[in-house]
Amino acid sequence: MLERQIAPYGTENPAELMDSFYQIGTEMLLELRNLVTSPEERKQARTWGAVDATKMVGVSAPTFRKLQKEYNIPGIIIEEAEKNRKIKKYTLSAINSLREKAQTRYFRPEGSAPLIIAVTNLKGGVGKTETAVDLGKKIAMEGMRSLLVDLDAQGTATLVSSGRIPDLEIPYDKTITNSLMNSPKNIEEIVLKTHFDGFDIIPANLAIQDCDLMLPNDKVNNHEHLGSPFERLKAALEIIKNQYDVIIIDCGPNIGFLTLNSIIACNGMIIPIPPSMYDYSSFVMYTATLSNMFKNLPKKPLDYLRIIISKHPGSNEALQMENMMREQFGRYILSNHMCETVEVPKAANEIGTIYDVTRPRGSREAYRRALQHLNDVNMEIINNFKDIWRIQAERNSQTERSSKVEV
Ligand SMILES: Nc1ncnc2c1ncn2[C@@H]1O[C@H](COP(=O)(O)OP(=O)(O)OP(=O)(O)O)[C@@H](O)[C@H]1O
Ligand SMILES: [Mg+2]
Repeated sequence: MLERQIAPYGTENPAELMDSFYQIGTEMLLELRNLVTSPEERKQARTWGAVDATKMVGVSAPTFRKLQKEYNIPGIIIEEAEKNRKIKKYTLSAINSLREKAQTRYFRPEGSAPLIIAVTNLKGGVGKTETAVDLGKKIAMEGMRSLLVDLDAQGTATLVSSGRIPDLEIPYDKTITNSLMNSPKNIEEIVLKTHFDGFDIIPANLAIQDCDLMLPNDKVNNHEHLGSPFERLKAALEIIKNQYDVIIIDCGPNIGFLTLNSIIACNGMIIPIPPSMYDYSSFVMYTATLSNMFKNLPKKPLDYLRIIISKHPGSNEALQMENMMREQFGRYILSNHMCETVEVPKAANEIGTIYDVTRPRGSREAYRRALQHLNDVNMEIINNFKDIWRIQAERNSQTERSSKVEV
């Protein structure tokens, strides 16, 4: 009461107030998380029904059944209590085994290299995390291997991909901090499997802010042993990169040392920009920063660079903005855009993304449309990646052939 009289619109004790917000907030998050995921196993493996699984394997329904019987790859039997029936569902790992038997699984060609893609933009809230997480999942759904590196201290990608509450359930030494500050090899121990087989993550929590403070400080950044503080992520990813087809780095909305490390470590970039004047102008400013960064990096080509028009509301103003951006940035803008849709926050309320939804709440049609947009964007990117790998592999085999001729 007294507090209200002294500071009617504020607080006499911000520290205490924030602490109570933190306590209440984390309790709420835990409760919510436990409602939608099993606390022991965090998130249960994502499964697909027989029709979707057959499509994913890329065979006819009779062939699917035949393969399943022949190789004894059972689905998981799930009881649907409310409908009083049992149905079969398939995990990605079962689907991938069936793909292998049917010889429909895609394998990155020999002679190609993993892509390391920084999803970046200086502006906050443009859809970096959403883009990064869903791309990682879709790559796994296509039978490939992806790793998401959460480099944002907010830990949203970690929460949504692992079901773990970053500050409560990710210990300090299980984030990238230890790898970047002390021992790059440690990176092998911090990779977490997710509920999508083939999609792993390196989690983050508030503690990774330490990197942005310590890396620039020569007294504590361990440069005598580990060298340049800008190249730590590159060195750490070098150790594990061959276990993946694509490594996606979810950058925070800043240009601190972690973001600089991502730009140096990556060989590709995806920049989400919503079609609005503020987002556009912020991106233009970011290009000046990026240009300076690249000028300071001797000969650093990018194998991949695409802008994704994100959170497109479909209004006339947004369409005008989109047209202008397409005129200016041409082929660097993906043909498909991601629409702004209520399906994203709906999935987020259940600590997930659109790809986690097995039974849409509300309109099925609205969910189907959102999923279609997301799939179109991600498949365009994945097909670009496959093209890059094909070119790399062809180039490598040509070089090999010509060096044999010279011998
Ligand atoms: N296609 C979409 N439709 C509707 N809402 C979206 C869409 N994509 C993202 N959002 C919402 O917009 C907000 C910001 O998205 P996201 O966290 O992906 O952005 P970000 O660029 O990673 O933000 P930050 O810079 O804070 O890390 C979130 O609340 C997210 O749920
Ligand atoms: Mg983010």
